Amino acid sequence: MDTKETIFSAPGKIILFGEHAVVYGYPAIVSAINLKTKCIIKESHLNEVQLSISSNYLLSKSSDSNMLNYIINHENREFEPKTKVSQRSVNPAYYFIVEKILNMTTSQKSPFIHIDSEIPPGIGLGSSAANAVAVIASLSSFMNINLSLAELNEFAFEAEKIIHGKPSGVDNTVSTYGGIQHYKQKKFTKLSVPDIDTHIVIVNSGIQRNTKHYIEKVADLMEENPEKYQNILEQIGKLTLNAKSSLLKGEVKELGNRMKQNHLLLNELGVGHPILDELVDSLDHYGSLGSKLTGAGGGGCIISLFE
Ligand code: PMV
Repeated sequence: MDTKETIFSAPGKIILFGEHAVVYGYPAIVSAINLKTKCIIKESHLNEVQLSISSNYLLSKSSDSNMLNYIINHENREFEPKTKVSQRSVNPAYYFIVEKILNMTTSQKSPFIHIDSEIPPGIGLGSSAANAVAVIASLSSFMNINLSLAELNEFAFEAEKIIHGKPSGVDNTVSTYGGIQHYKQKKFTKLSVPDIDTHIVIVNSGIQRNTKHYIEKVADLMEENPEKYQNILEQIGKLTLNAKSSLLKGEVKELGNRMKQNHLLLNELGVGHPILDELVDSLDHYGSLGSKLTGAGGGGCIISLFE
């Protein structure tokens, strides 16, 4: 039995500009953050795939510890989940990842997968994408499957669709490739931002929300009143392009103002929350250059720019 551990980690993210509009083909500016998910895989002495999940973040109320088990029969290359679909507590995305990887290999190894995340879930910091990227990278490597970064990213996007319905792919892309990115319709470019003396503060409202719900909410509003909502998305798209140019030139005051405008447009889009507005106001009092909600909205986090 192999006693080595295979470990990969993947970062969470913040959307600086363009959330929701990015689902409709407009650009977004997004950055990886220094909170990560680590996936550690050891060989199990049982003929089983086992999964345990723990979260070591301090800010969330909930903490998960779940088991996902497959019995693997190495002789006839079959594997069978131990729990019926209706009784599963583990997110179906993990079943998808494990089954797809087991189907790609003839390896006789039985993995024990441990996911350890610092990223609070459900608050817009890209925890599900980071988890998917870290698990796919570790499990494929453990099973001696070579995946390019592009393949890893596409695989994680499939997992994201199981969780969020119709995501843009921005979360998995920034978690796979890192850095600060301009992202549009599954294509990204990394931005080299000048060394400006600013900080982005992330404030967690403590209100957990469901990304899928807010993606669907915007889709419903688009159906009800396409003219109004298309117009808001277009404005966010233009704002994002202007923000990109401010970012590349290091124009921090303009950047702050554009964050304020983006926040107002997200409110108009129907994904705001009164507590988020209160946070934006109080950050103003502390001298912020501009603040906005980040991610799907309805709660989650505020990002705020400080000199
Ligand atoms: O809240 P998060 O981290 O799941 O981000 C969602 C961002 C959206 O633009 C609303 C959806 C997407 O897939 O881009």
